[in-house]
Amino acid sequence: MILAIESSCDDSCVAIINSSSLELIAFDKSSQESAHTAYGGVVPEIASRLHTETLPAMVLKQKEHFKDLKAIAVTNAPGLSVSLISGVSVAKSLALALNLPLIGVNHLIGHIYSLFLDSEAKLPLMVLLVSGGHTMVLNISGDGDIEVLAQTSDDSFGESFDKAAKMLELGYPGGPEIERLAKSGDDRAFDFTIPLKGSARMEFSFSGLKNQVRLAAANSSDRAGIAASFERVAVAHIIDKLSKIIAAHKPKSLGIVGGASANLRLRASLNELCEKHSCELLTAPLKYCSDNAAMIARAAKEAYYKRAQTSVLDSILSLQISPRTPLSGMNIFNF
Ligand code: KG4
Ligand code: ZN
Repeated sequence: MILAIESSCDDSCVAIINSSSLELIAFDKSSQESAHTAYGGVVPEIASRLHTETLPAMVLKQKEHFKDLKAIAVTNAPGLSVSLISGVSVAKSLALALNLPLIGVNHLIGHIYSLFLDSEAKLPLMVLLVSGGHTMVLNISGDGDIEVLAQTSDDSFGESFDKAAKMLELGYPGGPEIERLAKSGDDRAFDFTIPLKGSARMEFSFSGLKNQVRLAAANSSDRAGIAASFERVAVAHIIDKLSKIIAAHKPKSLGIVGGASANLRLRASLNELCEKHSCELLTAPLKYCSDNAAMIARAAKEAYYKRAQTSVLDSILSLQISPRTPLSGMNIFNF
């Protein structure tokens, strides 16, 4: 069994998987949302303090499984540095105490495995990664090599929901709040422009749309109309760029991962897009779209046999956090 710890942002999570059957043996998640909601975003100092308070007790709750563990996995990149440090410190202590190898896992590779929690990875695959910190289109080759095909030049898709929600005086995280309010609004109430429409640039940009929302919020009280129009245009921007990428690369499968992949309007539009291009759409269970340790444990299973060769102490000494690591050139089996 592998025990994994995830603490890269504002969720403390511990999971244990059986590395041969991929069965999830334990799953415990503590969300900090209520602590950050008053600030409209994650406050790193609060996040770090809460991880430090929560994680040791969450790990100790799994004591009965300690004798069956073969390795300890932990998210070490990318993320908020003070949040990553909390998880990595607890993981190092546990690895040292139990004399087990330590496996550092890239959080974004973890999100990719949310598609394959209890199955082998199905490759080649195109992935749309939409989280709070990232908006990326990835090509993953049959050998697991990652190529970044497009990314955002400013805000991420999820972040733009968080910022729009703040302007509309909704809570944090903004994604679910905007989605809820948008249901009762007219998505044509505001004629926001689709970012980079008609431009050959293969990238995403959400900061212009954010400003359009800011102006609308200052001049209108139709909050549901703003939320619905914003959601329509944010999704239309993803579809506009992605349809060109799909037409050029003709993938057989497209996977969508990350917290914002829970958005139902995005899912419905991607479904339509994939049908048009005879491409299979792979989604993660809603529960595992947002940050969680099950996906980290699943990813760690791939690196386990290689890392198990390293001495326990070496792995503890060499594992560092890497808050801003690039994903390009990494491999989903060998990281
Ligand atoms: O992957 P995730 O849980 O954390 C990061 O790794 O960043 O993603 C969190 C992001 C937040 O920006 C949140 O507002 C967004 O995902 N999100 C959504 C929805 N649910 C979460 N965005 C749009 N619609 C949603 N239903
Ligand atoms: Zn994430």
